[in-house]
Amino acid sequence: MARIIKDTANTLYPSILSYSLVFVIRQFQPDDMFAVIKIAYTTLPEQYNPSIFNYFYESNPQGFLVAEHNHKLIGFLTSIKTTQTTAKILMLAVIKNHQKKKIGSAILNEFFKEVYRSHIIKVELEVRTTNIQAIDFYKKHGFTIIDTIPQFYQNKEDAYLMTKTF
Ligand SMILES: CC(C)(COP(=O)(O)OP(=O)(O)OC[C@H]1O[C@@H](n2cnc3c(N)ncnc32)[C@H](O)[C@@H]1OP(=O)(O)O)[C@@H](O)C(=O)NCCC(=O)NCCS
Repeated sequence: MARIIKDTANTLYPSILSYSLVFVIRQFQPDDMFAVIKIAYTTLPEQYNPSIFNYFYESNPQGFLVAEHNHKLIGFLTSIKTTQTTAKILMLAVIKNHQKKKIGSAILNEFFKEVYRSHIIKVELEVRTTNIQAIDFYKKHGFTIIDTIPQFYQNKEDAYLMTKTF
């Protein structure tokens, strides 16, 4: 289990895991750009134009979080506000050798704090219907499948639309 050991203005979620993996969840900074693009490229099947990350940062900096371990980024989450009271998670990824260590959960929980601060009442996301790992992860964090979107992805795979209300 992750537990908070310290809280500072710039460091949103300093945590230590039982096997001594110390990591920090903080807001994305422009210097993180290349590391985030690399994580997206190596962990997500969809190919994104790198310039889109700059757009995410400029349109919703509070909803763009990274996980850092030993001065190296190991995960990130991007989101947009879809209305004044709703938001969408666009990408959430943890590098392969650090998956299943609660880092994704720590990033998501930090994002939920921002959701509360912004008075957002609903968060939605799309996930591949074949991505059992991510579907289980989101269900564990209170998301429910509410619809299937046929051929949503570049390779024509279907997506589930999942939502969580606050
Ligand atoms: C999905 C993802 C972000 C989860 O992050 P993570 O740090 O690995 O997840 P956590 O360790 O916080 O897992 C929390 C829970 O999610 C579920 N989960 C996570 N990985 C899982 C896996 N490989 N298989 C089944 N369930 C899994 C489990 O319920 C887990 O709880 P448990 O450890 O008590 O069993 C990460 O695996 C990832 O980056 N996957 C590749 C990219 C992706 O598919 N992103 C989501 C689509 S946008």
